[in-house]
Amino acid sequence: MGENTLTGEVFYPSFDFLGEPHIRDRAELTAEAEKDYTGFWARHAEELHWFTPWEKVLDDSNPPFYKWFTGAKTNIVYNCVDRHVLTARRNKLALIWEGEDGEFRSLSYFALKREVCKFANILKSLGVEKGDRVTLYMGRIPELVLGMLACARIGAVHSVVYGGFSVEALHERLEDSKSKVLIVADGAFQRGKIVPLKEIADEALQRAATVQSVLVVRRTGQPVNMEQGRDLWYHDLMRLPIASSSCSLEIVDAEDPLFMLYTSGTTGRPKAILHTHGGYMVGAYTTLKYVFDIQDQDRYWCAADPGWITGHSYIVYGPLLNGTTSFMYEGAPTFPYPNRWWQMIERYGITILYTAPTAIRGLMRFGDAWAERHDLSTLRLLGSVGEPINPEAWKWYHRVIGRDRCPIMDTWWQTETGMFMITPLPCDPLKPGSGGKPFPGLDMDIVNEEGQPVAPDEEGYLIVRNPWPAMLRTIYKNPDRYVEQYWSRFPGVYMTGDSARRDADGYYWVIGRVDDVIKVSGYRLGTAEIESALVSHPAVSEAAAIGLPHEVKGNIIHAFVILKTGVEVHDQLEEELKRHVGHEMGPIAKPQTIEFVESLPKTRSGKIMRRVLRARALGEDPGNLATMED
Ligand code: WTA
Repeated sequence: MGENTLTGEVFYPSFDFLGEPHIRDRAELTAEAEKDYTGFWARHAEELHWFTPWEKVLDDSNPPFYKWFTGAKTNIVYNCVDRHVLTARRNKLALIWEGEDGEFRSLSYFALKREVCKFANILKSLGVEKGDRVTLYMGRIPELVLGMLACARIGAVHSVVYGGFSVEALHERLEDSKSKVLIVADGAFQRGKIVPLKEIADEALQRAATVQSVLVVRRTGQPVNMEQGRDLWYHDLMRLPIASSSCSLEIVDAEDPLFMLYTSGTTGRPKAILHTHGGYMVGAYTTLKYVFDIQDQDRYWCAADPGWITGHSYIVYGPLLNGTTSFMYEGAPTFPYPNRWWQMIERYGITILYTAPTAIRGLMRFGDAWAERHDLSTLRLLGSVGEPINPEAWKWYHRVIGRDRCPIMDTWWQTETGMFMITPLPCDPLKPGSGGKPFPGLDMDIVNEEGQPVAPDEEGYLIVRNPWPAMLRTIYKNPDRYVEQYWSRFPGVYMTGDSARRDADGYYWVIGRVDDVIKVSGYRLGTAEIESALVSHPAVSEAAAIGLPHEVKGNIIHAFVILKTGVEVHDQLEEELKRHVGHEMGPIAKPQTIEFVESLPKTRSGKIMRRVLRARALGEDPGNLATMED
């Protein structure tokens, strides 16, 4: 299709390539991938190191339990760290970090290897072995990255819990993963205040039984409780001879687990999505390389949190696999002033910025002047992720931050997919608000209730028809739920849980979730978690949470609450319930508003009809009520 035949508002590439771009024409890569799908992935896998080569690229003998690079031996950390230390990249910066308080740290690839080895030796001394789970609960500090890599180096499975989560969320994840060790920071700086992570962890640990040792990283320096025989200071151990800077690397099977990451699903409790060393590595490496055109001179900044999949794939693993320099910032975008981000882009010469629409809209509110006074000329490419980006925010990002030069890669993907799935390439014409097309080779579609492809511009379920290397392998300890949740609605087809439409040019427009997942400021939350936090308050008998549209956050949480008999609504009750949810789940899960009601609309089988609640809250027609109980 010729460029000039595209419909709607189109921005043609004006892309500043740094040196020779990885891709100049999408059609080339697509043709290659379509001709020989597994050969395409094998070609990219060959750019990485394998101790033993694979026998098979894709084993699809037992769908949906697909396996990739079977028989191969590797370790993602070897490819992220050790491999670069053997080359001229040895002295290149792997990580540049700025604390919210202005503290600065940087680590070369050489230093990264040393610190990861020391950390890994500490974990070993705490009895961590291959296959053991380790939970990490910290703010955005380098030790979080080091800890993840240290686990992976010795074949342990990391489970990062976002630092914005609180007591019950952490407890649940510790319990489900049966983590042996918890790595926690004393606290985290956020908007000039301290989030008392260790204190929260102490409370969670009172409810959880499996953790034997707690490794405490000092960041904020406030006094914390250290329990004898359980809690150890990281900096104390780092000085001991056990923390030697050489640590052998565990050579693992391509299909051995690398990490699990809890995410909210359609129903019930959060589930642990399991990713493996081999396929995940190839997926994260290849997609970052092409989509952000990673070049040796880049200084790349993904402003997400390592506690979410975006941070796993595109702060930690993808950038290191590509040998790039990653920047990480600890704090809030507007602290102390709304120019904090732009100041850091100027100071460090950031070339690629990858963030979420909610952050863009939040910064846009402060006007253009905060960004305009900074030299952002090093930027050459921008990215967006986490929720649909409205064209207005897209254009602001393009004009004010990208100075009309930088293309925006609006990447659609999920915790489950591990890697970008629908995304433009830097050489593509862009349409504001559309993520473009599936990454080369992916067979994606939009279908109706019967699983039939819909006509152009019609809304339907977004699905994937073929397996991809970074796909989740299962839900930890729950293969049945894996099959049921993702592969049962349309047999043999991966159900994303999103709805979308595709225009006549083949561009995808993702609309949003079709299930009980709410995206609040790009954070993925389940109605079930919010509801169970509400119900754990002694005054509450039943609760229902829904998402309502919000200009900056995308969605906010609105909760309906039925109080226990005898409990009176009083002035402070709404505040008290919000505080309770904040304490149990974390500030991001706090309802914005709570409505006290006498009953909730339910189906005859007792399922809360959130659709009806949403319509009511928005003053819309609730539609068909045939399945509703009285
Ligand atoms: C949404 C985040 C529109 C979508 C990487 C998906 C998006 C969910 C986009 C996954 C995008 C992510 N445009 N919607 N570019 N990126 N989403 O697991 O609803 O935290 O299903 O992974 O975010 O959220 P998750």
